[in-house]
Amino acid sequence: MARLLTAVAALLMAAAINHAQAQDYPARPVTIIVPFAAGGPADITGRIVADILSRHLGQKFLVENVGGAGGTTGTLRAARAPADGYTLVSGHLGTNALAPAFYPNLGYDPQKDFQPIGLTAEYPELLVVRKDFPANNLKEFVAYAKSNASKLNVGHAGLGSVSYVGCLLLNSAIGIKPTLIPFTGTAPVLNAMLAGQIDYECDPVLGTLSQVQAGNVKALAIAAKKRSPILPDVPTSYEQGLPEFDCSPFYGLFAPSGTPQAVVEKLAEALNKGLNEEAVQKRLADLGAETIEPGRRGPRALAELIKSESNRLMPILKAAAEK
Ligand code: MLT
Repeated sequence: MARLLTAVAALLMAAAINHAQAQDYPARPVTIIVPFAAGGPADITGRIVADILSRHLGQKFLVENVGGAGGTTGTLRAARAPADGYTLVSGHLGTNALAPAFYPNLGYDPQKDFQPIGLTAEYPELLVVRKDFPANNLKEFVAYAKSNASKLNVGHAGLGSVSYVGCLLLNSAIGIKPTLIPFTGTAPVLNAMLAGQIDYECDPVLGTLSQVQAGNVKALAIAAKKRSPILPDVPTSYEQGLPEFDCSPFYGLFAPSGTPQAVVEKLAEALNKGLNEEAVQKRLADLGAETIEPGRRGPRALAELIKSESNRLMPILKAAAEK
């Protein structure tokens, strides 16, 4: 009996401490780990989130770029951080859903070791080739790639990153095995493409948008059913007869599992408020993000999305990798 009372008292005390911590939260700057290099889609999205939370919670939310291993290095660091709300990770479909398909010893379980806070954005991917690549549409690309696969260099942000996943779907649909070159993010991939060292990449549309618009690289296909309003002249993979190239990764905010519920709710509410702002919606739309209705944004909806995307894509990726 005495033991039971001690255990109950300890639980009550822990709950009281959690509550007090949540009331003060955030009492000091918060780190948001972006598990990819600065300047790419994950970084741009993470900084939008940091700005929203800083403004709505009256405290600094600072982005720390921790690239490597397809985003799993930074995500693992977040999984192992104290669950106190002061270390978060701005992850995505790769790091927080599909990574186990690529890393048998990942070190974290995306569904068990993280508490989802909210969905930030979804962007369709774009097939982008260097400016002087000898193809101007997907049909020409497929023909050229089939006869020159061994000469082609594909840049991606590491095994299991969404740029890796997008081009895995593309390459396996075409039936080619080009040379895959990993970087810590797609911002350095783009630099290498501008320098002529990379032939093509598959990246969420915002990653290459300004260079596509400036004519410094060529966009050959949007990996989605419908065209993107920001690049209306770029036909979809479906229109061009390659529906297997279909990839619109989600980006979201996560805390380590065990983070006090009141802190999670505070963060989720602030993120949701920010995503309702007209200026934020315009910024995301200008980057090519799809509209996310409020009902799809919160912790529970994001947890469900992770489950459904994992169940949908794992078998497709396995089949693509085995081809
Ligand atoms: C990036 O932000 O560097 C990449 O888009 C990440 C990725 O390809 O998963």
